[in-house]
Amino acid sequence: MTVATKSSAAPLTTRPQLRPITGLVNVLLSIKPLASFAKSRARKMMIDRAEDMGVYWRKEAAFLSEQNLEALRQQIENPALVYPDYYLTSFHAYDEGNLGWLPATEVEVAARAVHAKIWPEAKERGDQKLRDSFLDVVDRRIDQTQTPITAIVDLGCSVGLSTFRIRDRYPIAQMTGIDLSSYFLAVAMYRAAERKTQLKTVEPDSNQPDIRWIHAAAEATTLDDNCCDLVTLFLVCHELPAEASCEIFREARRILRPGGHLAIMEMNPKSEIYAQMPPYVFTLLKSTEPYLDSYFNLDIEQALIDSGFNSPTIDCNSPRHRTVIARAAETAIS
Ligand SMILES: C[S@@+](CC[C@H](N)C(=O)[O-])C[C@H]1O[C@@H](n2cnc3c(N)ncnc32)[C@H](O)[C@@H]1O
Repeated sequence: MTVATKSSAAPLTTRPQLRPITGLVNVLLSIKPLASFAKSRARKMMIDRAEDMGVYWRKEAAFLSEQNLEALRQQIENPALVYPDYYLTSFHAYDEGNLGWLPATEVEVAARAVHAKIWPEAKERGDQKLRDSFLDVVDRRIDQTQTPITAIVDLGCSVGLSTFRIRDRYPIAQMTGIDLSSYFLAVAMYRAAERKTQLKTVEPDSNQPDIRWIHAAAEATTLDDNCCDLVTLFLVCHELPAEASCEIFREARRILRPGGHLAIMEMNPKSEIYAQMPPYVFTLLKSTEPYLDSYFNLDIEQALIDSGFNSPTIDCNSPRHRTVIARAAETAIS
């Protein structure tokens, strides 16, 4: 793993590069029937490719959709929650964005398929490897003799992929997962129950605390001041306008104890992969990730300092991802 604080590659979006093919892609994407046709072709190709490498997309998503997830969704849903406007849009080529059963039942397989390409040799284990590479940086960067990690909040936890991997590293910490999608949280609760049953068979006396799931915005977690030692944001900031990321950093600072840490795992705008990506491919990517430009142009180090953190460390944990770790300044929130 390389340690990178700075890289010579400029963020992709700051370079003037609107070539004819990019313009053409933009025009095609603005014509609704063409965009829908392209989307459904791309979706079929992605699913077929995933299945070729052993991610049984259709079968696994169908299995999940047959479980009684709606009951779990109703249990977790906060009917008073007001969704931020930026959230109520299409993401990842799902018209319903993150608020529906199709995206919820496909998150796990999609993550395994997409992350299979990070390290060619890892194939469908790429997703786990990505999560582990993040946690390795967390282990290395946070001196637990100074700040023991006893309570963790995973913001934007989705169906729990990040939360469960973190839980496996910190088996007795208090864990909280927060997300705006009650559909995703329902899947997380289903998986948590499954994991609990498995744990009871191998370790009947296990005292592992249950994960607490909360349907809330990461900007307004509803948690107490100074209540945790580690806040994680795993692949969340690229789905946010920069101002929302900054608001979430301030909320993370509020709920962290002084000296606690915020750990962010994200796409690395300075990686060679994005710098060398043909602009029309980046345009296609942006058509499924509405806030990518905003994220790529965010000065994350400065934003963290402005939100009450010390200067962060930044490590490359994959050829195209970075882990940013910032320590909450010592002054307690009063
Ligand atoms: C790409 S997913 C990443 C999920 C998860 N951390 C993982 O590692 O698989 C981003 C998640 O952030 C959630 N999200 C986006 N904006 C949010 C906000 N303001 N508050 C809470 N969750 C948010 C989305 O609903 C989605 O589940």
